[in-house]
Amino acid sequence: MASSLLFEPLTLRGLTVPGRAWVSPMCQYSCSLESPGVVGDWHLAHLQAFAAGGAPMILTEASAVTAEGRISPWDAGLWGEHQIGPWERIVSLVHATGSRIGIQLAHAGRKGSTYAPFHPESGSVGEDDGGWATVGAGEAPFGAYASPRAMTTEEVAAVPGAFAAAARRAVVAGFDAVELHAAHGYLLAQFLSPLVNERQDGYGGSDQARARLLLESVEAVRQVVPDSMPVLVRVSATDWSPHTPGGVAGDVERTVQVARWLAERGADLVDVSSGGNLPDPQIPVGPGYQTRFAARVREEVDVPVSTVGMITQPRQAELVLATGQADVVMMARALLADPRWWHRAAHQLGHDLPWVPQYARVLDRHVY
Ligand SMILES: Cc1cc2nc3c(=O)[nH]c(=O)nc-3n(C[C@H](O)[C@H](O)[C@H](O)COP(=O)(O)O)c2cc1C
Repeated sequence: MASSLLFEPLTLRGLTVPGRAWVSPMCQYSCSLESPGVVGDWHLAHLQAFAAGGAPMILTEASAVTAEGRISPWDAGLWGEHQIGPWERIVSLVHATGSRIGIQLAHAGRKGSTYAPFHPESGSVGEDDGGWATVGAGEAPFGAYASPRAMTTEEVAAVPGAFAAAARRAVVAGFDAVELHAAHGYLLAQFLSPLVNERQDGYGGSDQARARLLLESVEAVRQVVPDSMPVLVRVSATDWSPHTPGGVAGDVERTVQVARWLAERGADLVDVSSGGNLPDPQIPVGPGYQTRFAARVREEVDVPVSTVGMITQPRQAELVLATGQADVVMMARALLADPRWWHRAAHQLGHDLPWVPQYARVLDRHVY
């Protein structure tokens, strides 16, 4: 029995993860333009730091299932066989260090072909500067980004196959899990939102039709990964718009329904985030501001859920679990600041978390 819920194991299908505080996906915009979508030394060092810091489970950054599905020209990908080996190297090192690792698979849709946040320029990257023409559920752009081309029905129908092909490569690379990115206004989230998706071709027009692309993508992925491998799905519980039917509460109830359909299709964990479909949402940001959405899904649907968003402190994370609001807490920025967060948490919560042998000499001194 772990002394803290944060260090209690969670089993999803054949995968047992020895803790509940996971590394949330974080784009690094660090692939070289000479080898598009191929991860390199930065990704290895970035992800390995969490493994050495005691992370039980790491999710990689959004990795594109097609070249045009990248958020930026510097994004990671898994749309080609040549991208498997460099991921395999990272997975092997993370495993050897004692962590589990899943890959987040994504298609950016109308939010593709943009500059990295730390690039001097912002907005869409022109086609003469290494960018590409984007596609979307419709022709409306995201804010000031370039307008996408509305995908044909045939193009939409091909998306699940792209997710499945990337998932198959993830299996070859040795990943423990795959997560489909259906949040933050990227392609699958664009299709889910009644504010963005105005299609009438079977992929829009009703809640069920708007969820079709995501559900078919999950089914396609499930078919190619082993039964023992968990499939996770990140969703945005709300677009944070007063103009959405039913407001934020209406969005959350639609998300509960989507989570139910996801669980029926074999998704093993619903990772509940929010926002991303609108350029200027009014979000009341504060500690744990998205946790109530995960709690609502967990209350209504028989599926493990994770929460994310301004959870930074070990006792705060422990409280989320103790109050039954989520099964897993994902964290991003706090872990960039402190990639050994799990050791601080273990110390504060009275849990004995072994250091990796290379770092065991921290025990010579009381570092916390
Ligand atoms: C540098 C950075 C990159 C991110 N990239 C992704 C991503 O690739 N996929 C994703 O779902 N969320 C991404 N996010 C969002 C985080 O996963 C997380 O949901 C968000 O930062 C809120 O959690 P936090 O308050 O613990 O940082 C990113 C966040 C940061 C800070």
